[in-house]
Amino acid sequence: MTGRPRTTKPPRRARNDPGQYDDLAAEWWPSHGGFAALHWLARARAGLVPPPPHPGAPLLDVACGAGLLAPHLGADPAGWRHIGLDLSATALGQARAHGVAPVRGNALRLPFADATFSCVVAGEVLEHLPDLPGACAELGRVLAPGGTLVIDTLADTLMCRIALIHVAERLPGGPPPRLHDPALLVDPRVLTAELALHGVRVTALHGLRPSIPGYLRWVTRRARWVPMVPVRSTGGVYQAVGVKVGHGQSLPHG
Ligand SMILES: C[S@@+](CC[C@H](N)C(=O)[O-])C[C@H]1O[C@@H](n2cnc3c(N)ncnc32)[C@H](O)[C@@H]1O
Repeated sequence: MTGRPRTTKPPRRARNDPGQYDDLAAEWWPSHGGFAALHWLARARAGLVPPPPHPGAPLLDVACGAGLLAPHLGADPAGWRHIGLDLSATALGQARAHGVAPVRGNALRLPFADATFSCVVAGEVLEHLPDLPGACAELGRVLAPGGTLVIDTLADTLMCRIALIHVAERLPGGPPPRLHDPALLVDPRVLTAELALHGVRVTALHGLRPSIPGYLRWVTRRARWVPMVPVRSTGGVYQAVGVKVGHGQSLPHG
């Protein structure tokens, strides 16, 4: 024994270990923190959320994290009632502080009755779940007929695996290292087919990328966020909007 003090490092977790969100709890809200790009995506996601059908209609934010969508939905009492579900208690505590009604739970077993929500949002979560068919079944189940589903996720392509995981993890604004498991990325055709099995028709699908001038302003600290630009290719980050068919309606086959 030399008596030399040891430095303690956080454990190196497996890729996609949900415990990482607790290790990184302080990174959610700073504009230049480890989750910076989630703010850019939350802003783009909010642009796809329709107005509520009536004041206080419930919107479910599946895997809401620290509630980054909340500022973009607004605090209007005539707006949506923002309910956030997540596994992480530390993230939910922060979501509550931003006006989200927090529910601790698993996206694969949503603790809500069928057809509860007029809008369901699932931002940057499907690529973390080990059961895509199960997740789509749950999203479709809790969405009310005529309701809107808003998704963004990462495509199951070689470009996405290399650019968004192995390259972006080393860039400012990229995801924290080891957060993603390349085996879980989501093919948009598979997503569309799985949602159709549960009565959700995908009505819009397009890719997103950060604006280059916006990124340069952000990286040089002249901006707090980066605008996301829609692109045709769904080979990287992409957004999908779906509508739950109403009673008595059916999805076309094929
Ligand atoms: C990349 S973050 C996205 C958070 C938020 N949607 C956003 O865009 O800011 C992924 C979130 O999924 C949550 N998560 C992972 N697996 C989950 C599961 N099975 N059920 C519920 N939440 C889960 C994590 O705790 C984390 O908050």
